[in-house]
Amino acid sequence: MFQPDLLREKRILITGGGTGLGKSMAHRFLQLGATVYICGRRREVLSVAEAELNHVAPNKIHSFTCDVRDLAQVEQMVETVWNVGPLDILVNNAAGNFLARTEELSPRAFEAVLGIVLTGTINLTMACGRRWLKKAHAGNVLNIAATYTSTGSAYVVPSAMAKAGVVALTRSLAVEWGDRGIRMNAIAPGPIPTEGAFSRLLPRTELEEFARKRIPMHRFGTLEELANLAVFLVSDGSSYINGEVVVMDGGEQLQGAGEFTSLGRLLTEDEWKLMKPGKPAKSDQ
Ligand code: COA
Repeated sequence: MFQPDLLREKRILITGGGTGLGKSMAHRFLQLGATVYICGRRREVLSVAEAELNHVAPNKIHSFTCDVRDLAQVEQMVETVWNVGPLDILVNNAAGNFLARTEELSPRAFEAVLGIVLTGTINLTMACGRRWLKKAHAGNVLNIAATYTSTGSAYVVPSAMAKAGVVALTRSLAVEWGDRGIRMNAIAPGPIPTEGAFSRLLPRTELEEFARKRIPMHRFGTLEELANLAVFLVSDGSSYINGEVVVMDGGEQLQGAGEFTSLGRLLTEDEWKLMKPGKPAKSDQ
């Protein structure tokens, strides 16, 4: 799908890069020639990921222990990276989420998710953005959003609030920094099986089946599909895409929105036949 050296000489930082979506993007970016930095909170997880990714492209993967909520840690990490050379691409992927009845959430529960998703994205974007602007270096930010940012979603309220903020940040800075060589885009993924997300959001196997059936394509997305979309959006081939939020959910978001979708699925074969032209409508019978 892509030229094997598409991301050669690109230096990319992925937050939450030690697991799940972040690790799959790191893997794909490395395959295509990039130098990749990953960060996360847990040293042991990062070391395992780094060792695994080192097989993909030796000496091109580096990891940092960093809590994205902590500005001092973020600044120190970004400064260390910049001392070697400027980053070209930032992927704000680190996230926290869990299912909960909102009235039962403690203030610290809100803080934890808003801190990782929203404050973390702000911290990284500002740390890289200011450096890019200062040196007139081109920059590219890809944020991982969610499909429920405009509708909101029950039971994941802190995440819905935080991801909506991330989308607002993406669109706002796409305009504010667009004339200074910085692109901002986001991906809104539907469900993609990862240990981190599914253990917190779909705790029972039957629920996985329910979630799968809701999706028009009757399957979840894959890590490869997500990584390929990320490659496209961070590559120079998509250089005129700015401020965009690309939904990748197999049509899940739309199936809930169509007024007649559920109704149509309830009609019987005989009823469909009756709906055809020339047949008497129900009110005429
Ligand atoms: N329901 C309700 N409250 C919860 C909760 C849940 N399932 N999980 C955590 N909390 C609350 C905690 O009780 C705590 O509040 P308290 O101190 O008032 O009791 C608060 O959230 C912070 O939890 P803590 O575990 O100390 O925070 P943390 O910073 O270590 O972890 C989380 C952050 C909670 C987001 C954790 O789930 C996490 O690390 N997630 C990262 C991976 C992830 O979520 N992946 C899915 C991405 S889609």
